[in-house]
Amino acid sequence: MKKLEVFGAAKLKGQIRISGSKNASLPILAATLLSNKKISLANLPRVKDIETMILLLKSLGSIIEDNKKELIIKNTKQAKTFAAYSLVKTMRAGILVLGPLLAKFGKAKVSLPGGCAIGTRPVDIHLQALSKLGVKYKIIQGYVHANAPKGLIGANIKFPKVSVGATENLIIAACLAKGKTTLSNCAIEPEIKDLVNFLINMGCNIKWTAKRTVRIEGVNNLKELDYSVMPDRIEAGTYLIAAALTEGNLKITGIDPKIISTEINILKKVGSKITLRKNEILIQGSKKIKNINIKTSPYPGFPTDLQAQMMVLLCKANKRSHIKEEIFENRFMHVAELNRMGAKISINGNQASIEGNIKFEAAELMATDLRASVSLILAALAAKGKSVINRIYHLDRGYEDIEKKLKKVGAKIKRIN
Ligand code: EPZ
Repeated sequence: MKKLEVFGAAKLKGQIRISGSKNASLPILAATLLSNKKISLANLPRVKDIETMILLLKSLGSIIEDNKKELIIKNTKQAKTFAAYSLVKTMRAGILVLGPLLAKFGKAKVSLPGGCAIGTRPVDIHLQALSKLGVKYKIIQGYVHANAPKGLIGANIKFPKVSVGATENLIIAACLAKGKTTLSNCAIEPEIKDLVNFLINMGCNIKWTAKRTVRIEGVNNLKELDYSVMPDRIEAGTYLIAAALTEGNLKITGIDPKIISTEINILKKVGSKITLRKNEILIQGSKKIKNINIKTSPYPGFPTDLQAQMMVLLCKANKRSHIKEEIFENRFMHVAELNRMGAKISINGNQASIEGNIKFEAAELMATDLRASVSLILAALAAKGKSVINRIYHLDRGYEDIEKKLKKVGAKIKRIN
């Protein structure tokens, strides 16, 4: 089992280039199933979830050539429509192939994603909305058996709750539906805008008609395209927090600061000095970190995917802070591990109360999910001595070259088997 050894305390200094966005790449890769034309995708982060999605597409019949710089995808006409549990169970975004398969072939058998450390991860909103496009489905032995005998028919759909995945699945499905579809109460994460941008470049007819409302007109012909996915705002936010935590001085390049303005404003409030440039962010962490109360919410609110990382920073604040997790029902798995490093965090329902003025102590640690594992690295960077983080396969799902990037800015970190 691979582990990470981290020697703290570190003061990060230097430049980090942000990789492509995992959460933009996954829906865009799923959406390539709509097309029979050649598609080339650049700037995909080489992380486990992307590899798994590529395997899933190949299992559905996609011909994929990888020349390391970009992926060239060609879909044969006779693609399969069965997405196996073995592939979907480790990467919940596998459910995103349901929409395109139904749109193109009128049928699909896709494994339910199943739960994970942060929650049950249901897909009821996806399924209810798809049924409004004429899809009939049954759940049999952990699989969604779905079909649309008359093809997908456009409809007006209002999501009962903001859901990133459901919004993505329905936008993709509606691209080939007959007639017009209006989706309201959509999630509007930048990754969804990137997916829409990709689909429009592929020849789909999509228009945002209000902040959370999008209108899609089904089309028959799609075009070849070359596309480069957007940078990863959660990776960028993670490294910004690392600089704030270690009184570091980092230049984060390859990302438009506008898409993480909420996070930047919060880091300014807790005392970091931040300068914004066209495609880069300069951050100087401060000695004195001010406490703050935060709640996670759908974009443009504070992202749940930075909650664990922010919690580590607030352990170093001058006074007590609170974080409310409003998106997932069980996203405090990192708290027990942080408390083993000397943090004093108590949980009451979905609210965490974080004592300030903590000196992290190095320890042997266990990662539980993707973002929790990176929060343990942050704490280990702030702790004096050697920490060891186990089960780092969680980390490899979503952070490209994290040791290389951190080593380059002064961290003493190495992977051991
Ligand atoms: C996406 O997950 C991201 N994953 C998550 O990032 C991110 O945390 C989440 O959006 C919220 O921003 C990808 O983009 C691949 P949701 P998703 O549907 O689509 C409930 C990471 O670390 N819900 O917006 O699954 C759900 O249980 C990952 O990169 C239903 O009840 O999130 C959750 O409580 C973790 N029924 C809430 O809605 C449904 O049908 C938001 O989920 C769907 C969701």
